[in-house]
Amino acid sequence: RLLIIDFGSQVTQLIARRLRELNVYCEIHPYQKVTEESLKEFDPRAIIFSGGPDSVMREGSPRPPKAAYELGVPILGICYGQQVMMHDLGGRVEAGEHATAEFGRAYVTPTKDHTDLLNGWFMDATGKEQVWMSHGDHVAEIAPGFEVYGTSPGAPFAITADTERRFYAVQFHPEVHHTPNGATLYENFIKLAGFSGDWTMGAYREEMIAKIREQVGDKKVICALSGGVDSSVTGILLHEAIGDQLTCVFVDHGLLRLGEAEQVVNMFRENYNLNLIHADESDLFLGALEGVSDPEVKRKTIGKLFIDVFQKYADQIEGAEFLAQGTLYPDVIESVSFSGGPSVTIKSHHNVGGLPEKMGLKLVEPLRELFKDEVRALGHELGLPASFIGRHPFPGPGLAIRCPGEITREKLDILRKADAVYIDQIRKHGLYDEIWQAFAAILPMRTVGVMGDGRTYDYALALRAVTSVDGMTADYYPFTHEFLSETSTRIINEVKGVNRVFYDCTSKPPGTIELE
Ligand code: XMP
Repeated sequence: RLLIIDFGSQVTQLIARRLRELNVYCEIHPYQKVTEESLKEFDPRAIIFSGGPDSVMREGSPRPPKAAYELGVPILGICYGQQVMMHDLGGRVEAGEHATAEFGRAYVTPTKDHTDLLNGWFMDATGKEQVWMSHGDHVAEIAPGFEVYGTSPGAPFAITADTERRFYAVQFHPEVHHTPNGATLYENFIKLAGFSGDWTMGAYREEMIAKIREQVGDKKVICALSGGVDSSVTGILLHEAIGDQLTCVFVDHGLLRLGEAEQVVNMFRENYNLNLIHADESDLFLGALEGVSDPEVKRKTIGKLFIDVFQKYADQIEGAEFLAQGTLYPDVIESVSFSGGPSVTIKSHHNVGGLPEKMGLKLVEPLRELFKDEVRALGHELGLPASFIGRHPFPGPGLAIRCPGEITREKLDILRKADAVYIDQIRKHGLYDEIWQAFAAILPMRTVGVMGDGRTYDYALALRAVTSVDGMTADYYPFTHEFLSETSTRIINEVKGVNRVFYDCTSKPPGTIELE
Protein backbone atom coordinates (compact mmCIF):
# COMPACT_ATOMS: atom_id res chain seq x y z
CA ARG A 1 0.00 0.00 0.00
CA LEU A 2 0.92 3.55 -0.63
CA LEU A 3 1.09 6.36 1.88
CA ILE A 4 0.27 9.92 0.94
CA ILE A 5 1.61 12.40 3.45
CA ASP A 6 -0.69 15.39 3.29
CA PHE A 7 0.92 18.78 3.71
CA GLY A 8 -2.37 20.57 3.25
CA SER A 9 -2.82 20.94 -0.49
CA GLN A 10 -6.33 21.58 -1.77
CA VAL A 11 -5.90 18.76 -4.27
CA THR A 12 -4.44 15.95 -2.15
CA GLN A 13 -7.63 13.93 -2.58
CA LEU A 14 -7.10 14.03 -6.31
CA ILE A 15 -3.85 12.14 -5.84
CA ALA A 16 -5.77 9.43 -4.02
CA ARG A 17 -8.31 9.40 -6.76
CA ARG A 18 -5.68 8.94 -9.47
CA LEU A 19 -4.23 6.03 -7.51
CA ARG A 20 -7.62 4.41 -7.03
CA GLU A 21 -8.14 4.69 -10.77
CA LEU A 22 -4.94 2.70 -11.13
CA ASN A 23 -6.28 0.15 -8.64
CA VAL A 24 -3.73 0.95 -5.99
CA TYR A 25 -4.65 1.12 -2.34
CA CYS A 26 -3.53 4.30 -0.64
CA GLU A 27 -4.18 6.21 2.54
CA ILE A 28 -3.84 9.92 3.14
CA HIS A 29 -2.31 10.78 6.50
CA PRO A 30 -1.96 14.39 7.63
CA TYR A 31 1.70 15.17 8.21
CA GLN A 32 1.09 15.88 11.91
CA LYS A 33 0.19 12.25 12.43
CA VAL A 34 3.09 10.69 10.57
CA THR A 35 5.89 9.66 12.89
CA GLU A 36 8.82 7.33 12.55
CA GLU A 37 6.83 4.64 14.38
CA SER A 38 3.64 5.13 12.37
CA LEU A 39 5.68 4.89 9.17
CA LYS A 40 7.21 1.59 10.24
CA GLU A 41 3.83 0.29 11.23
CA PHE A 42 2.17 1.36 7.98
CA ASP A 43 5.02 -0.21 6.04
CA PRO A 44 4.36 1.62 2.76
CA ARG A 45 5.59 0.29 -0.54
CA ALA A 46 5.84 3.88 -1.76
CA ILE A 47 5.25 7.36 -0.38
CA ILE A 48 3.91 10.54 -1.93
CA PHE A 49 4.47 13.95 -0.38
CA SER A 50 1.56 16.18 -1.31
CA GLY A 51 1.67 19.88 -2.04
CA GLY A 52 0.85 22.39 0.65
CA PRO A 53 0.43 26.09 1.32
CA ASP A 54 3.39 26.61 3.63
CA SER A 55 6.96 27.68 2.90
CA VAL A 56 9.77 25.29 3.82
CA MET A 57 11.86 28.29 4.83
CA ARG A 58 9.51 29.10 7.65
CA GLU A 59 10.61 27.79 11.04
CA GLY A 60 8.34 24.99 12.08
CA SER A 61 6.83 24.40 8.63
CA PRO A 62 5.55 20.85 7.98
CA ARG A 63 8.09 18.05 7.44
CA PRO A 64 8.00 14.31 7.02
CA PRO A 65 9.95 12.26 9.55
CA LYS A 66 13.55 11.76 8.40
CA ALA A 67 12.93 8.03 8.56
CA ALA A 68 10.80 8.33 5.41
CA TYR A 69 13.98 8.69 3.36
CA GLU A 70 15.54 5.65 4.97
CA LEU A 71 12.86 3.08 4.22
CA GLY A 72 14.31 2.30 0.80
CA VAL A 73 10.94 2.86 -0.90
CA PRO A 74 10.24 5.19 -3.82
CA ILE A 75 9.07 8.68 -2.91
CA LEU A 76 7.31 11.18 -5.12
CA GLY A 77 7.28 14.79 -3.96
CA ILE A 78 4.80 17.21 -5.45
CA CYS A 79 5.14 20.99 -5.29
CA TYR A 80 5.63 21.72 -1.56
CA GLY A 81 6.52 18.00 -1.37
CA GLN A 82 9.35 18.59 -3.84
CA GLN A 83 10.61 21.57 -1.89
CA VAL A 84 10.54 19.61 1.35
CA MET A 85 12.46 16.78 -0.22
CA MET A 86 15.12 19.08 -1.67
CA HIS A 87 15.44 20.97 1.56
CA ASP A 88 15.69 17.82 3.69
CA LEU A 89 18.21 16.16 1.43
CA GLY A 90 20.63 19.05 1.12
CA GLY A 91 19.25 21.27 -1.64
CA ARG A 92 18.03 24.82 -1.33
CA VAL A 93 14.64 26.47 -1.74
CA GLU A 94 14.11 30.14 -2.43
CA ALA A 95 11.19 32.35 -1.65
CA GLY A 96 9.20 33.18 -4.71
CA GLU A 97 9.62 36.52 -6.28
CA HIS A 98 7.09 37.74 -8.69
CA ALA A 99 9.14 36.62 -11.65
CA THR A 100 9.43 33.01 -10.55
CA ALA A 101 6.05 32.35 -9.01
CA GLU A 102 3.88 30.36 -11.40
CA PHE A 103 0.18 29.86 -11.19
CA GLY A 104 -1.72 28.03 -13.85
CA ARG A 105 -0.78 26.39 -17.10
CA ALA A 106 2.91 25.97 -17.89
CA TYR A 107 4.96 23.88 -20.26
CA VAL A 108 7.76 21.62 -19.20
CA THR A 109 10.52 20.71 -21.63
CA PRO A 110 12.80 17.73 -21.16
CA THR A 111 16.45 18.33 -20.36
CA LYS A 112 17.64 14.78 -20.13
CA ASP A 113 16.79 11.29 -21.27
CA HIS A 114 13.75 9.77 -19.72
CA THR A 115 13.74 8.30 -16.27
CA ASP A 116 11.29 5.54 -15.38
CA LEU A 117 8.94 8.21 -14.15
CA LEU A 118 8.92 10.07 -17.43
CA ASN A 119 8.50 7.06 -19.61
CA GLY A 120 5.81 8.01 -22.09
CA TRP A 121 6.08 11.72 -21.45
CA PHE A 122 7.16 14.42 -23.88
CA MET A 123 6.13 12.15 -26.70
CA ASP A 124 4.17 14.61 -28.77
CA ALA A 125 5.60 16.59 -31.67
CA THR A 126 6.24 19.73 -29.62
CA GLY A 127 8.41 17.89 -27.12
CA LYS A 128 6.66 19.74 -24.31
CA GLU A 129 4.24 18.67 -21.62
CA GLN A 130 1.45 20.85 -20.41
CA VAL A 131 1.38 20.93 -16.62
CA TRP A 132 -0.40 22.83 -13.86
CA MET A 133 1.76 24.92 -11.59
CA SER A 134 0.79 26.66 -8.41
CA HIS A 135 3.80 27.74 -6.42
CA GLY A 136 5.34 30.83 -4.90
CA ASP A 137 8.61 29.32 -3.68
CA HIS A 138 10.82 27.25 -5.92
CA VAL A 139 13.82 24.97 -5.68
CA ALA A 140 17.01 26.94 -6.26
CA GLU A 141 19.51 24.15 -5.86
CA ILE A 142 18.83 20.47 -6.09
CA ALA A 143 19.98 18.03 -3.49
CA PRO A 144 23.06 15.86 -4.08
CA GLY A 145 22.28 12.74 -6.07
CA PHE A 146 19.43 14.40 -7.99
CA GLU A 147 19.40 15.35 -11.64
CA VAL A 148 17.09 17.61 -13.58
CA TYR A 149 14.86 15.99 -16.17
CA GLY A 150 12.53 18.79 -17.07
CA THR A 151 12.31 22.52 -16.76
CA SER A 152 9.69 25.24 -17.16
CA PRO A 153 10.09 29.01 -17.39
CA GLY A 154 9.34 29.55 -13.71
CA ALA A 155 10.73 26.27 -12.38
CA PRO A 156 14.21 25.38 -13.58
CA PHE A 157 13.83 22.17 -11.59
CA ALA A 158 10.34 21.22 -12.67
CA ILE A 159 11.19 17.53 -12.74
CA THR A 160 14.01 16.10 -10.68
CA ALA A 161 14.98 12.59 -9.76
CA ASP A 162 17.52 10.54 -7.95
CA THR A 163 16.91 7.34 -9.85
CA GLU A 164 19.31 5.38 -7.68
CA ARG A 165 17.34 6.00 -4.49
CA ARG A 166 14.10 6.19 -6.50
CA PHE A 167 13.23 9.67 -5.20
CA TYR A 168 11.25 11.74 -7.67
CA ALA A 169 10.15 15.30 -7.23
CA VAL A 170 8.12 17.59 -9.42
CA GLN A 171 7.16 21.20 -9.00
CA PHE A 172 3.81 20.90 -10.78
CA HIS A 173 0.64 19.00 -9.90
CA PRO A 174 0.30 15.83 -11.98
CA GLU A 175 -2.98 14.93 -10.24
CA VAL A 176 -5.08 17.76 -11.66
CA HIS A 177 -7.04 17.78 -14.85
CA HIS A 178 -4.91 20.59 -16.26
CA THR A 179 -1.91 18.30 -16.40
CA PRO A 180 -3.44 16.19 -19.16
CA ASN A 181 -0.91 13.36 -19.03
CA GLY A 182 -0.49 13.46 -15.27
CA ALA A 183 -2.06 10.03 -14.88
CA THR A 184 0.82 8.56 -16.89
CA LEU A 185 3.24 9.92 -14.38
CA TYR A 186 1.40 8.25 -11.50
CA GLU A 187 1.16 5.06 -13.49
CA ASN A 188 4.90 5.04 -14.06
CA PHE A 189 5.51 5.77 -10.40
CA ILE A 190 3.39 2.91 -9.12
CA LYS A 191 4.91 0.54 -11.67
CA LEU A 192 8.41 1.32 -10.54
CA ALA A 193 7.26 0.87 -6.94
CA GLY A 194 6.11 -2.63 -7.88
CA PHE A 195 2.35 -2.33 -7.34
CA SER A 196 0.34 -4.94 -9.15
CA GLY A 197 -2.73 -2.72 -9.44
CA ASP A 198 -5.25 -5.29 -8.26
CA TRP A 199 -7.06 -3.25 -5.62
CA THR A 200 -10.80 -2.84 -6.31
CA MET A 201 -13.95 -1.04 -5.25
CA GLY A 202 -14.93 -4.29 -3.53
CA ALA A 203 -11.94 -3.89 -1.27
CA TYR A 204 -12.86 -0.27 -0.65
CA ARG A 205 -16.32 -1.38 0.44
CA GLU A 206 -14.81 -3.74 3.00
CA GLU A 207 -12.52 -1.01 4.31
CA MET A 208 -15.39 1.45 4.63
CA ILE A 209 -17.45 -1.09 6.50
CA ALA A 210 -14.62 -1.75 8.93
CA LYS A 211 -14.12 1.99 9.46
CA ILE A 212 -17.81 2.61 10.08
CA ARG A 213 -17.91 -0.21 12.64
CA GLU A 214 -14.91 1.22 14.37
CA GLN A 215 -16.38 4.73 14.47
CA VAL A 216 -19.90 3.82 15.50
CA GLY A 217 -19.35 0.88 17.83
CA ASP A 218 -22.70 -0.26 19.20
CA LYS A 219 -24.36 3.16 18.96
CA LYS A 220 -27.37 4.04 16.83
CA VAL A 221 -27.24 6.01 13.60
CA ILE A 222 -29.87 7.89 11.66
CA CYS A 223 -29.67 8.77 8.01
CA ALA A 224 -31.80 11.01 5.80
CA LEU A 225 -32.45 9.00 2.68
CA SER A 226 -33.57 10.91 -0.39
CA GLY A 227 -33.33 8.20 -3.01
CA GLY A 228 -30.45 10.00 -4.70
CA VAL A 229 -27.24 8.06 -5.34
CA ASP A 230 -25.23 9.62 -2.53
CA SER A 231 -27.65 9.07 0.30
CA SER A 232 -28.63 5.63 -1.05
CA VAL A 233 -25.04 4.42 -1.12
CA THR A 234 -24.46 5.89 2.33
CA GLY A 235 -27.54 4.14 3.70
CA ILE A 236 -26.70 0.76 2.21
CA LEU A 237 -23.08 0.91 3.27
CA LEU A 238 -24.11 1.70 6.83
CA HIS A 239 -26.72 -1.00 6.77
CA GLU A 240 -24.08 -3.52 5.73
CA ALA A 241 -21.81 -2.30 8.48
CA ILE A 242 -24.19 -2.00 11.41
CA GLY A 243 -27.52 -3.54 10.34
CA ASP A 244 -30.36 -2.63 12.68
CA GLN A 245 -28.40 0.04 14.50
CA LEU A 246 -29.29 2.18 11.49
CA THR A 247 -32.63 3.86 10.87
CA CYS A 248 -33.23 5.80 7.68
CA VAL A 249 -35.80 8.53 7.37
CA PHE A 250 -37.21 9.28 3.97
CA VAL A 251 -38.83 12.71 4.16
CA ASP A 252 -41.59 12.86 1.59
CA HIS A 253 -42.37 16.53 1.12
CA GLY A 254 -44.98 15.94 -1.53
CA LEU A 255 -42.73 17.46 -4.15
CA LEU A 256 -41.43 14.24 -5.62
CA ARG A 257 -41.89 12.87 -9.11
CA LEU A 258 -44.55 10.44 -10.28
CA GLY A 259 -44.41 7.23 -8.23
CA GLU A 260 -41.04 8.20 -6.79
CA ALA A 261 -41.78 7.82 -3.09
CA GLU A 262 -43.11 4.29 -3.56
CA GLN A 263 -40.21 3.32 -5.79
CA VAL A 264 -37.63 4.49 -3.30
CA VAL A 265 -39.31 3.01 -0.26
CA ASN A 266 -39.97 -0.35 -1.94
CA MET A 267 -36.49 -0.60 -3.32
CA PHE A 268 -34.92 -0.19 0.11
CA ARG A 269 -37.35 -2.33 2.01
CA GLU A 270 -37.44 -5.17 -0.47
CA ASN A 271 -33.84 -5.32 -1.60
CA TYR A 272 -32.09 -4.32 1.56
CA ASN A 273 -34.46 -4.92 4.42
CA LEU A 274 -33.47 -1.57 5.82
CA ASN A 275 -35.15 0.10 8.82
CA LEU A 276 -36.90 2.84 6.91
CA ILE A 277 -39.40 5.40 8.05
CA HIS A 278 -41.49 6.86 5.25
CA ALA A 279 -42.27 10.28 6.67
CA ASP A 280 -45.18 11.36 4.52
CA GLU A 281 -45.40 15.03 5.40
CA SER A 282 -46.72 16.36 2.12
CA ASP A 283 -49.65 18.13 3.77
CA LEU A 284 -47.32 19.98 6.08
CA PHE A 285 -45.00 21.11 3.29
CA LEU A 286 -47.68 21.97 0.74
CA GLY A 287 -49.63 23.80 3.42
CA ALA A 288 -46.63 25.93 4.33
CA LEU A 289 -45.98 26.68 0.68
CA GLU A 290 -49.49 27.86 -0.01
CA GLY A 291 -49.43 31.36 -1.45
CA VAL A 292 -45.64 31.43 -1.60
CA SER A 293 -44.21 32.38 -4.97
CA ASP A 294 -40.83 33.89 -4.17
CA PRO A 295 -38.12 31.33 -5.03
CA GLU A 296 -35.94 32.04 -2.02
CA VAL A 297 -38.86 31.96 0.39
CA LYS A 298 -39.86 28.61 -1.10
CA ARG A 299 -36.39 27.21 -0.68
CA LYS A 300 -36.01 28.46 2.87
CA THR A 301 -39.46 27.23 3.87
CA ILE A 302 -38.70 23.76 2.56
CA GLY A 303 -35.20 23.70 4.06
CA LYS A 304 -36.42 24.68 7.49
CA LEU A 305 -39.36 22.30 7.51
CA PHE A 306 -37.11 19.50 6.35
CA ILE A 307 -34.93 19.98 9.39
CA ASP A 308 -37.92 20.18 11.73
CA VAL A 309 -39.48 17.05 10.29
CA PHE A 310 -36.27 15.10 10.28
CA GLN A 311 -35.65 16.08 13.86
CA LYS A 312 -39.15 15.03 14.87
CA TYR A 313 -38.60 11.53 13.49
CA ALA A 314 -35.05 11.33 14.76
CA ASP A 315 -36.23 12.17 18.26
CA GLN A 316 -38.29 9.00 18.20
CA ILE A 317 -35.20 6.92 17.74
CA GLU A 318 -33.91 6.55 21.21
CA GLY A 319 -30.21 6.81 21.80
CA ALA A 320 -29.19 7.86 18.29
CA GLU A 321 -25.72 9.38 18.49
CA PHE A 322 -24.70 9.63 14.86
CA LEU A 323 -26.05 11.19 11.73
CA ALA A 324 -24.93 9.65 8.46
CA GLN A 325 -24.54 11.96 5.49
CA GLY A 326 -23.61 11.36 1.87
CA THR A 327 -21.15 14.22 1.71
CA LEU A 328 -18.81 13.82 -1.26
CA TYR A 329 -15.32 15.13 -1.67
CA PRO A 330 -16.31 18.04 -3.94
CA ASP A 331 -18.73 19.21 -1.21
CA VAL A 332 -15.84 19.14 1.21
CA ILE A 333 -13.54 21.22 -0.95
CA GLU A 334 -16.25 23.67 -1.85
CA SER A 335 -16.99 24.31 1.76
CA VAL A 336 -13.31 24.95 2.46
CA SER A 337 -13.42 27.63 -0.24
CA PHE A 338 -10.50 28.01 -2.59
CA SER A 339 -10.40 31.76 -2.82
CA GLY A 340 -11.38 32.48 0.73
CA GLY A 341 -13.67 35.20 -0.53
CA PRO A 342 -17.35 35.20 0.15
CA SER A 343 -19.30 34.39 -2.98
CA VAL A 344 -22.69 35.68 -3.90
CA THR A 345 -25.64 33.47 -3.05
CA ILE A 346 -27.42 32.64 -6.26
CA LYS A 347 -29.72 30.11 -4.64
CA SER A 348 -29.85 28.78 -1.11
CA HIS A 349 -29.21 25.12 -1.71
CA HIS A 350 -31.13 22.76 0.36
CA ASN A 351 -29.30 20.14 2.34
CA VAL A 352 -29.10 18.86 5.86
CA GLY A 353 -26.16 21.08 6.76
CA GLY A 354 -26.71 22.59 10.17
CA LEU A 355 -28.58 19.52 11.36
CA PRO A 356 -25.81 17.85 13.30
CA GLU A 357 -24.95 20.93 15.38
CA LYS A 358 -28.57 21.54 16.15
CA MET A 359 -29.23 17.97 17.14
CA GLY A 360 -25.94 17.35 18.91
CA LEU A 361 -25.19 14.39 16.68
CA LYS A 362 -21.81 13.20 15.51
CA LEU A 363 -21.32 12.76 11.79
CA VAL A 364 -20.61 9.61 9.81
CA GLU A 365 -19.61 10.51 6.28
CA PRO A 366 -18.32 7.40 4.53
CA LEU A 367 -18.20 9.00 1.07
CA ARG A 368 -16.14 12.02 2.07
CA GLU A 369 -13.16 10.93 0.03
CA LEU A 370 -15.03 9.97 -3.09
CA PHE A 371 -16.06 11.63 -6.30
CA LYS A 372 -19.45 11.13 -7.89
CA ASP A 373 -18.37 8.52 -10.40
CA GLU A 374 -16.63 6.58 -7.65
CA VAL A 375 -19.82 6.65 -5.59
CA ARG A 376 -21.64 5.23 -8.58
CA ALA A 377 -19.06 2.47 -8.85
CA LEU A 378 -19.48 1.74 -5.16
CA GLY A 379 -23.26 1.70 -5.58
CA HIS A 380 -22.82 -0.85 -8.33
CA GLU A 381 -20.64 -2.90 -6.01
CA LEU A 382 -23.37 -2.75 -3.35
CA GLY A 383 -25.93 -4.08 -5.79
CA LEU A 384 -27.93 -0.88 -6.27
CA PRO A 385 -29.97 -1.28 -9.45
CA ALA A 386 -28.38 0.44 -12.46
CA SER A 387 -31.54 2.49 -12.93
CA PHE A 388 -30.94 4.01 -9.49
CA ILE A 389 -27.25 4.60 -9.93
CA GLY A 390 -27.62 6.38 -13.23
CA ARG A 391 -30.49 8.63 -12.19
CA HIS A 392 -30.25 12.29 -13.08
CA PRO A 393 -29.69 14.60 -10.12
CA PHE A 394 -32.85 15.78 -8.41
CA PRO A 395 -32.83 18.88 -6.22
CA GLY A 396 -33.69 18.78 -2.53
CA PRO A 397 -36.66 21.21 -2.87
CA GLY A 398 -37.98 18.91 -5.60
CA LEU A 399 -40.74 20.03 -7.91
CA ALA A 400 -41.22 23.25 -5.96
CA ILE A 401 -38.46 24.88 -7.98
CA ARG A 402 -39.85 23.48 -11.22
CA CYS A 403 -43.11 25.23 -10.61
CA PRO A 404 -42.26 28.94 -10.78
CA GLY A 405 -44.81 31.10 -9.02
CA GLU A 406 -47.34 29.68 -6.66
CA ILE A 407 -47.45 25.93 -6.11
CA THR A 408 -50.80 24.15 -6.23
CA ARG A 409 -51.63 20.48 -6.05
CA GLU A 410 -53.23 20.73 -9.47
CA LYS A 411 -50.07 22.13 -11.02
CA LEU A 412 -47.91 19.54 -9.30
CA ASP A 413 -50.14 16.81 -10.60
CA ILE A 414 -49.89 18.06 -14.17
CA LEU A 415 -46.15 18.52 -13.84
CA ARG A 416 -45.63 14.96 -12.55
CA LYS A 417 -47.49 13.43 -15.46
CA ALA A 418 -45.80 15.60 -18.06
CA ASP A 419 -42.36 14.98 -16.61
CA ALA A 420 -42.96 11.22 -16.71
CA VAL A 421 -43.89 11.37 -20.40
CA TYR A 422 -40.86 13.50 -21.19
CA ILE A 423 -38.46 11.17 -19.38
CA ASP A 424 -40.11 8.19 -21.02
CA GLN A 425 -39.46 9.79 -24.40
CA ILE A 426 -35.83 10.39 -23.51
CA ARG A 427 -35.38 6.79 -22.40
CA LYS A 428 -37.15 5.43 -25.49
CA HIS A 429 -34.82 7.38 -27.71
CA GLY A 430 -31.81 6.06 -25.79
CA LEU A 431 -30.73 9.55 -24.70
CA TYR A 432 -31.06 9.30 -20.92
CA ASP A 433 -27.41 8.57 -20.17
CA GLU A 434 -26.16 11.16 -22.62
CA ILE A 435 -28.04 13.88 -20.80
CA TRP A 436 -26.87 15.11 -17.43
CA GLN A 437 -30.25 16.23 -16.24
CA ALA A 438 -33.67 16.54 -17.86
CA PHE A 439 -37.03 17.57 -16.46
CA ALA A 440 -40.22 19.42 -17.19
CA ALA A 441 -41.27 22.62 -15.46
CA ILE A 442 -44.76 24.08 -15.38
CA LEU A 443 -44.91 27.77 -16.22
CA PRO A 444 -46.97 30.25 -14.22
CA MET A 445 -49.29 31.10 -17.08
CA ARG A 446 -52.08 29.79 -19.19
CA THR A 447 -52.25 30.20 -22.93
CA VAL A 448 -54.94 29.75 -25.54
CA GLY A 449 -55.01 26.78 -27.83
CA VAL A 450 -57.38 24.79 -29.99
CA MET A 451 -58.03 21.07 -29.59
CA GLY A 452 -60.66 19.22 -31.52
CA ASP A 453 -63.03 21.99 -32.36
CA GLY A 454 -62.78 23.70 -29.03
CA ARG A 455 -60.80 26.46 -27.44
CA THR A 456 -58.42 25.51 -24.63
CA TYR A 457 -56.94 27.73 -21.96
CA ASP A 458 -54.32 25.61 -20.23
CA TYR A 459 -50.86 25.54 -18.75
CA ALA A 460 -47.63 25.82 -20.71
CA LEU A 461 -44.68 23.58 -19.95
CA ALA A 462 -40.98 24.15 -20.36
CA LEU A 463 -38.79 21.16 -21.08
CA ARG A 464 -35.20 21.34 -19.96
CA ALA A 465 -32.28 19.04 -20.77
CA VAL A 466 -28.62 19.82 -20.25
CA THR A 467 -25.22 18.27 -20.57
CA SER A 468 -22.74 19.08 -17.84
CA VAL A 469 -19.81 17.66 -15.91
CA ASP A 470 -20.57 18.97 -12.46
CA GLY A 471 -23.67 21.13 -12.72
CA MET A 472 -21.59 24.29 -12.40
CA THR A 473 -21.83 25.03 -16.09
CA ALA A 474 -24.13 23.38 -18.60
CA ASP A 475 -25.17 23.36 -22.25
CA TYR A 476 -28.70 22.75 -23.35
CA TYR A 477 -29.12 19.43 -25.09
CA PRO A 478 -29.57 19.64 -28.90
CA PHE A 479 -32.63 17.41 -29.43
CA THR A 480 -33.74 16.87 -33.00
CA HIS A 481 -36.88 18.62 -34.21
CA GLU A 482 -38.51 15.22 -34.63
CA PHE A 483 -37.86 14.38 -30.99
CA LEU A 484 -39.23 17.71 -29.82
CA SER A 485 -42.38 17.58 -31.89
CA GLU A 486 -43.08 13.95 -30.99
CA THR A 487 -42.61 14.75 -27.29
CA SER A 488 -44.72 17.88 -27.43
CA THR A 489 -47.52 15.98 -29.14
CA ARG A 490 -47.37 13.16 -26.63
CA ILE A 491 -47.45 15.48 -23.64
CA ILE A 492 -50.38 17.50 -24.92
CA ASN A 493 -52.31 14.37 -25.85
CA GLU A 494 -51.57 12.44 -22.69
CA VAL A 495 -51.60 15.12 -20.02
CA LYS A 496 -54.80 16.98 -19.40
CA GLY A 497 -54.24 20.61 -18.54
CA VAL A 498 -51.33 21.30 -20.90
CA ASN A 499 -51.79 22.86 -24.32
CA ARG A 500 -48.36 24.27 -25.10
CA VAL A 501 -44.76 23.04 -24.77
CA PHE A 502 -41.57 25.11 -24.93
CA TYR A 503 -38.03 23.82 -25.10
CA ASP A 504 -35.57 25.78 -22.96
CA CYS A 505 -32.47 26.45 -25.05
CA THR A 506 -30.57 28.45 -22.43
CA SER A 507 -27.16 27.29 -21.28
CA LYS A 508 -25.68 27.88 -17.83
CA PRO A 509 -24.57 30.58 -17.47
CA PRO A 510 -26.58 32.72 -18.08
CA GLY A 511 -29.46 30.44 -17.08
CA THR A 512 -29.32 28.14 -14.09
CA ILE A 513 -30.31 24.53 -14.59
CA GLU A 514 -33.43 24.70 -12.46
CA LEU A 515 -35.91 27.46 -13.17
CA GLU A 516 -35.75 28.82 -9.66
P1 XMP B 1 -28.75 25.25 -10.67
O1 XMP B 1 -30.22 25.41 -10.85
O2 XMP B 1 -28.20 25.98 -9.50
O3 XMP B 1 -28.55 23.72 -10.38
O4 XMP B 1 -27.99 25.54 -11.94
C1 XMP B 1 -27.33 23.04 -10.38
C2 XMP B 1 -27.58 21.62 -9.93
O5 XMP B 1 -27.95 21.63 -8.54
C3 XMP B 1 -29.23 21.08 -8.39
N1 XMP B 1 -29.91 21.88 -7.35
C4 XMP B 1 -30.03 21.48 -6.09
N2 XMP B 1 -29.67 20.35 -5.48
N3 XMP B 1 -30.58 21.14 -3.48
C5 XMP B 1 -29.98 20.17 -4.18
O6 XMP B 1 -29.70 19.13 -3.61
C6 XMP B 1 -30.96 22.32 -4.02
O7 XMP B 1 -31.51 23.19 -3.36
C7 XMP B 1 -30.69 22.49 -5.40
N4 XMP B 1 -30.92 23.51 -6.28
C8 XMP B 1 -30.42 23.10 -7.48
C9 XMP B 1 -29.90 21.17 -9.73
O8 XMP B 1 -30.91 20.18 -9.87
C10 XMP B 1 -28.73 20.94 -10.64
O9 XMP B 1 -28.42 19.57 -10.74
